Amino acid sequence: MKYDFDRVIDRANTGAVKWDRFNGGSNAGPIDPITAGLKGDGPIPMWVADMDFVSPQPVVDALAERATHGVFGYTVADDSYYDSIIDWFQRRHNWTIERDWIITAPGVVPALEFAIKTFCEPGDKVLVQRPVYYPFFRVIEHGGCEIVSNTLVENAGVYEMDFEDLEAKAADPKARIAILCSPHNPIGRVWTQDELRRFAEICTRNGVMVISDEIHCDLIMPGHRFQPYGTVGEEFADNSIITTAASKTFNVAGLHLSNIIIKNPDIREKYQEYMVQTGVAGGLTPFGLIGTEASYRGGEDWLAQVLDYIQANYDHLKSELARRMPSLTVSPLEGTFLAWIDFRKLGLDRAGLEDLAQVRAKVLFDEGYIFGDEGDGFERMNIACSRAVLDLALDRLEKEVKALA
Ligand SMILES: Cc1ncc(COP(=O)(O)O)c(C=O)c1O
Repeated sequence: MKYDFDRVIDRANTGAVKWDRFNGGSNAGPIDPITAGLKGDGPIPMWVADMDFVSPQPVVDALAERATHGVFGYTVADDSYYDSIIDWFQRRHNWTIERDWIITAPGVVPALEFAIKTFCEPGDKVLVQRPVYYPFFRVIEHGGCEIVSNTLVENAGVYEMDFEDLEAKAADPKARIAILCSPHNPIGRVWTQDELRRFAEICTRNGVMVISDEIHCDLIMPGHRFQPYGTVGEEFADNSIITTAASKTFNVAGLHLSNIIIKNPDIREKYQEYMVQTGVAGGLTPFGLIGTEASYRGGEDWLAQVLDYIQANYDHLKSELARRMPSLTVSPLEGTFLAWIDFRKLGLDRAGLEDLAQVRAKVLFDEGYIFGDEGDGFERMNIACSRAVLDLALDRLEKEVKALA
């Protein structure tokens, strides 16, 4: 089936966080509620990481059919559910997962919370690679732990890992866990086999457990290949927790279901015990299970098309910036649907940049600094939207950038 991603869908009044409630970690203060969709001159939300697209038709159909059944009692995952996950990762990523390794959780961020609480003591250190997905900071702080950044090295918008720094920080006896973001949100890198191996080797040799957040693993642009952390090496897999979900891939984040893959039985047992003790084990909804399974079984065709669309949006964004606003540059997009744009040449401070984007242009990005101070002067733009929306945002931005001159 051919999907139409050009169609602008009015998400207003659906409870969409992105459109109906703006609270994106900004200091700009309250912004009028976004209720007019694109009809008025309200702000255009390009922040939180969901897509403005309808999910694959098999997902919509499966959920509708389940809703029509009409009985929504307590629900468990069945063989067919687990098989759909195992098949997907085998087929798409050449990663063999056993059913026992899969733990369902109500989302990736909650799963990270469980991991920190299970394996860290207050005062322990947790490594992250800033600029990085900001809820990592929150979960570390909730565990009473210290955030230590093995900051990525940026060169003209291209980011690499700093292995020397990682070596020093992983050697600290207080360093307990390293959170890898793979692919990396917000800078769009898909880590190579060599990078993953070096990262894994340093962490494992120093007794630092790795949590690899692979929620964006299916959103890979042509020419790049994602390697699951679980396939980098047996001993590395045995020292890891890998977080996955259908949510980013198929735009079903509101179904709140993630699959946490833990190969090592000791780690798995402790993790599950924590979930049982805190009452979150087993809290599955029929819609989460049905939507996830239908995604993995029937969403491949949609995914191929959406990736083409996102790549085309990225190419368009890049060439329009070069043509109309050459002082702004975008990092290469290897994976995710999140473009990382460098505004530093405008010479604005945080308040000035927020005023330009959010208040004057009325384009709501995620401010770069919320991913860590290293993101200062950048904005993260969600480009999983119709081309018309992207163009409208570019028009508004161009007008305000030119007005600065
Ligand atoms: C790297 C990363 N991890 C986790 C999440 C959110 O996961 P969940 O909604 O399952 O808690 C996101 C959402 O943007 C993300 O980018």
